[in-house]
Amino acid sequence: MAKGLRKGLTSYGDEGFALFLRKAFIKAMGYSDDALDRPIVGITNTYSDYNPCHGNAPALIEAVKRGVMLSGAMPMVFPTISIHESFAHPTSMFLRNLMAMDTEEMIRAQPMDAIVVIGGCDKTLPAQIMAAASVDLPTVVVPVGPMVVGHHKGEVLGACTDCRRLWSAHRAGEIDEAEIETVNSRLAPSVGTCMVMGTASTMACITETLGLSLPMSATIPAPHAERIRLAEASGAVAARMAVDGGPRPSELLTPRAFRNATVVMQAIGGSTNGIIHLTAIANRTPHRYDLDMLDEIGRTVPVLVDLKPSGAHYMEHFHHAGGVPKLLAQLGELIDLDAGTVAGGTLRDIVAKAEDVPGQDVIRPRSAPIKPEGSMAVLYGNLAPGGAIIKQAAASARLLQHTGRAVVFDSVEDMAARIDDPELDVSADDVLVLRNTGPKGAPGMPEAGYLPIPKKLGRQGVKDMVRISDARMSGTAFGTIVLHITPESAVGGPLALVASGDMIRLDLAGRRIDLLIDDGEFERRRSLLKTSPAPAMPKRGYARLFQQTVLQADEGCDFDFMVRPPDETP
Ligand code: FES
Ligand code: MG
Repeated sequence: MAKGLRKGLTSYGDEGFALFLRKAFIKAMGYSDDALDRPIVGITNTYSDYNPCHGNAPALIEAVKRGVMLSGAMPMVFPTISIHESFAHPTSMFLRNLMAMDTEEMIRAQPMDAIVVIGGCDKTLPAQIMAAASVDLPTVVVPVGPMVVGHHKGEVLGACTDCRRLWSAHRAGEIDEAEIETVNSRLAPSVGTCMVMGTASTMACITETLGLSLPMSATIPAPHAERIRLAEASGAVAARMAVDGGPRPSELLTPRAFRNATVVMQAIGGSTNGIIHLTAIANRTPHRYDLDMLDEIGRTVPVLVDLKPSGAHYMEHFHHAGGVPKLLAQLGELIDLDAGTVAGGTLRDIVAKAEDVPGQDVIRPRSAPIKPEGSMAVLYGNLAPGGAIIKQAAASARLLQHTGRAVVFDSVEDMAARIDDPELDVSADDVLVLRNTGPKGAPGMPEAGYLPIPKKLGRQGVKDMVRISDARMSGTAFGTIVLHITPESAVGGPLALVASGDMIRLDLAGRRIDLLIDDGEFERRRSLLKTSPAPAMPKRGYARLFQQTVLQADEGCDFDFMVRPPDETP
């Protein structure tokens, strides 16, 4: 039952007066009693001049409000923090949990019966869904949508897979200063999120699969009129949920839904960041995310969606080919269609309406996959007792079984200082190792896992090498890259024991990443490590909270005190 303005009233003994006061203040905005007596749908405003990905948020907010009002409820827009990948120092991951807390507390603090969260840039949808799962108020997610593609010299460009590729070409001397400047104006030609299968697209597809957003919400391009209509429809759904009281996130975020999301994440060639976010979201529910399930699904679910960085196309092409509903249809029995959605029914209803687009080759049938196995695999081994991730779909097949000599960098700064040094002792068969870049080490687990190819090797035409770290990697990057090595080196993980010149073996088939030194030497180095200093604890503020309580990658990098105990109801 909708409570509208009465919800969360602080009565201090006189509830009538508290409501009287609340109404007196809100009436200063010109609202009528009729408006204020209705169920309330809260709408988050994550517009920011620092967040071009959310540049269409004002238009989406207007459309959501229209949908809410046409359905007889009352929309109330409120701000939360907004995070853009390029404007979030030290990292956007450092701020994700802050946004989750901000969103959660503002939903709890203010009266609303349902909530529409509008987000999209990498960390924002995870933060908003973590918040929604904790509050457990009926929630509809409206992604801002992907950018449209750019064009340069007859070639299609996309942020930011091509940012990296063309910058590498510039570094290698293949593209001159003037041309790289031109390219700079063409890589992100509209508002919206990166239009490759990066973290933003991955999370939007996962959100749609989890049933938290309406069909096609992941793929409609940000500037399209269709996205405005989707926002209006989402407002209408939220207005209905405000009255019905559901479905709540706890009804949708079930083990079945997490499994479906994992199948989709593998089939789209999704971002490795999606694993950390799904883990964090699950930890806000009574359920837990299982890395072994991720690996098992990766062995059976093929990559079907042909998008950069693993494939050829961009989000708008995925959309015109039928989007997530069509993908779910192609996945067939791999998806549990009994999972519910905010639209009221189940994924079965959505798959039944999936569009058939003759001749499209972006969403492949299972008989002709892009890759027969899924996009990501989980590695263990003496370097990663808590697990590590490799995005095999974006790796070089010849490097997936590889033994090479370690070239170790102790930090991002150390790497930046030495990687292009012509004197650096490095060859194409070596394994580049970067450490102290985990959740606590850097801090905020930067997307530094995509170590650049040393300039002198790049000039010789080397495009890929095995690179390993406790960092993350942008979903838009590619290469034979082992990430999220857990526990991280800054808390004494075995990555801290590697010395330049050691041999390291990547064994994808065996799902292992190992340092090839004997056990005695391993223990000797470990005993020496005990004396090495721990990362400095910030003296105050959010950084201190982060450093004290952030969990490792295999636990989703949330704060330890935000995890919901499995036996606790919201
Ligand atoms: Fe916002 Fe890529 S920078 S989604
Ligand atoms: Mg990204």
